[in-house]
Amino acid sequence: MSITAEIRVGDKTLPLPVIVGSEQEVGVDIQALRDKTGAVTFDPGYGNTGACESAVTFLDGELGILRYRGYPIEQLAGKVSFLEVAWLLLKGELPNAAELATFTAAEKANRGLPAHVTAIINAFPKDAHPMAVLSAAVLSLSSTYHAETAATHAGLNFNELRLMAQLPTIAAAIYRHGAGLAPVAPDAKLDYTANFLNMMFAGTARSGHDADIANALDLLLILHADHEQNCSTSTVRLVGSAQADLYASIAAGITALWGPLHGGANQAVIEMLDGIVAHGGDVGWAVAQAKDKDSSFRLMGFGHRVYKNFDPRATLIKVQADVVLGKLGKNDPQLAIAKGLEEAALKDEYFVARKLYPNVDFYSGIIYRALGFPYGMFTVLFALGRLPGWMAHWNEHNAGKAKIGRPRQIYTGKNARDVVELSKR
Ligand SMILES: CC(C)(COP(=O)(O)OP(=O)(O)OC[C@H]1O[C@@H](n2cnc3c(N)ncnc32)[C@H](O)[C@@H]1OP(=O)(O)O)[C@@H](O)C(=O)NCCC(=O)NCCS
Repeated sequence: MSITAEIRVGDKTLPLPVIVGSEQEVGVDIQALRDKTGAVTFDPGYGNTGACESAVTFLDGELGILRYRGYPIEQLAGKVSFLEVAWLLLKGELPNAAELATFTAAEKANRGLPAHVTAIINAFPKDAHPMAVLSAAVLSLSSTYHAETAATHAGLNFNELRLMAQLPTIAAAIYRHGAGLAPVAPDAKLDYTANFLNMMFAGTARSGHDADIANALDLLLILHADHEQNCSTSTVRLVGSAQADLYASIAAGITALWGPLHGGANQAVIEMLDGIVAHGGDVGWAVAQAKDKDSSFRLMGFGHRVYKNFDPRATLIKVQADVVLGKLGKNDPQLAIAKGLEEAALKDEYFVARKLYPNVDFYSGIIYRALGFPYGMFTVLFALGRLPGWMAHWNEHNAGKAKIGRPRQIYTGKNARDVVELSKR
């Protein structure tokens, strides 16, 4: 059955083309609307706006489905590595053995930072938020690499390869600078995630994470690797649509991710759990606060613009929280509080009616804390995971007939008026 659409604005009726995606999602194409009727659509928060066509990730919020390039997240998690997922997102297919070997070797060979990036990280005050430093450090890479955007290396654009290889080095250098520790050089004997853990914690009381822990962190990176047109990805696409370079676009994505309603929620969750501990572990207190319309308190790590059933990433991360804490022999009272909070909220009419479920950030912070990451680094870990997704979207946008992103508005300000001289105001 073919679907038709039309819109009537005043006395003008306009038939509108309908586009249907590969998973049968229907989009009404309103590109001619303003030209033909003078009207624009009004959709604050873009909840009903398809800003692009995309072949990267499919998400069904009602059914709790998340697929990268067609592969269900449940199959990718645990079966492939984060580097394989990065390749999948960037290239469209999982790598074969030769491609993966070349990519792995090239990632190892490009981990070192230019001196100016280290200098910029070290110029920040030690108590600067790591996300601020991360964004600045990534932006600073553009000065070195801008001219090389067209080059390919190991099957990838050289800039993409180096961002993949250098973001963990940057992240670890930020942590160690803040902690007053000397940086640790990348170790080419170690794979991506094990090397990152080593650069973070070598020589500290938290060193010595084994392969199981590295695999668990790798899995978390996979679960964060893409999520279609979220706030930071849309930011990357929008900044890129002005033909800003990859580094400038990713730096902008990092700052968008930092916000507590987006990736910053993983830090906000653990701070909320600390608050509940301070209230004697009373989850009822938190639920009551979240429901109180006079309070700005929200259950952090709960709710999602798109998921209205369950977040499949949260389901997988909850299992990992038990696995990792069990492996580390840690009995974190916050895990029990988080589970109690989830149970209480899921039974509460307020959360049921609004379809609010735990999201990707609800349990991840508990794992990061158990591994020894300070709170300020949690969203940096999200950024490490999200990097390949951001780059895949940046590429997709710029490969198409990319238009500069430029929303319209409904102006509600003053009508035209004359400027009055200063002496008469
Ligand atoms: C993710 C989030 C920003 C989505 O927001 P959204 O789609 O714009 O939904 P809204 O903010 O319009 O919320 C819809 C309703 O649910 C309520 N709500 C949403 N999330 C809530 C939460 N975490 N705690 C309490 N109430 C919440 C809102 O108050 C609103 O109630 P109302 O209809 O009575 O006014 C929102 O759920 C949130 O702030 N969650 C906490 C932060 C978080 O975990 N972010 C990470 C997302 S992966």
